[in-house]
Amino acid sequence: MYRFLLMICTLLFLLPGSQLLAGDSPQEQRHELMEQSKDAAKPVGGMLKGEMEFNAATAMASFESWATVAGEFGKLFPEGTETGYDTEAKKEIWTDRAGFEVELAKFDEAVSRAIAANPQSLDELKAAAGPVFKSCKSCHEAYRVEKE
Ligand code: HEC
Repeated sequence: MYRFLLMICTLLFLLPGSQLLAGDSPQEQRHELMEQSKDAAKPVGGMLKGEMEFNAATAMASFESWATVAGEFGKLFPEGTETGYDTEAKKEIWTDRAGFEVELAKFDEAVSRAIAANPQSLDELKAAAGPVFKSCKSCHEAYRVEKE
């Protein structure tokens, strides 16, 4: 009986912690947004590599998806979320927030320009998407832990 109670207490103790990470914790939300970025990158990358036919509407849908990410991503790094949910966020996001904001702004600008360019050909898509992919890469180099 004592053991049983102890177990319940332990479970109750663990619960708030696990709830913190369940569903919509910032760690999980930012992971979801990056998954969304990857999904949006797939068709654009496919077109650029010639594995998929150019489609202006599909490309624009990817740009719009990135625009949503650019608007939300920066809000998901509050103090206390440096770890958890197997995060790949580097501690530099918290120690060098200004630098991280610069990367976010570069991404946001590249995406806005791509939307404004509204590419209608593969060449135009190359010109529009290139800077976006560059900004994914430069932010990852500085602020994402590579776990391969
Ligand atoms: C401003 C910085 C920044 C930009 C721009 C950015 N990322 Fe990320 N990315 C991150 C960080 C930080 C993580 C780790 C997030 C975490 O685990 O909490 C990440 C993680 C990821 C992951 C792994 C998902 C995960 O969390 O396991 C993928 C895939 C990804 N990014 C794709 C992209 C693509 C594609 C783009 C461009 C279209 C992009 N990212 C732009 C910072 C950025």
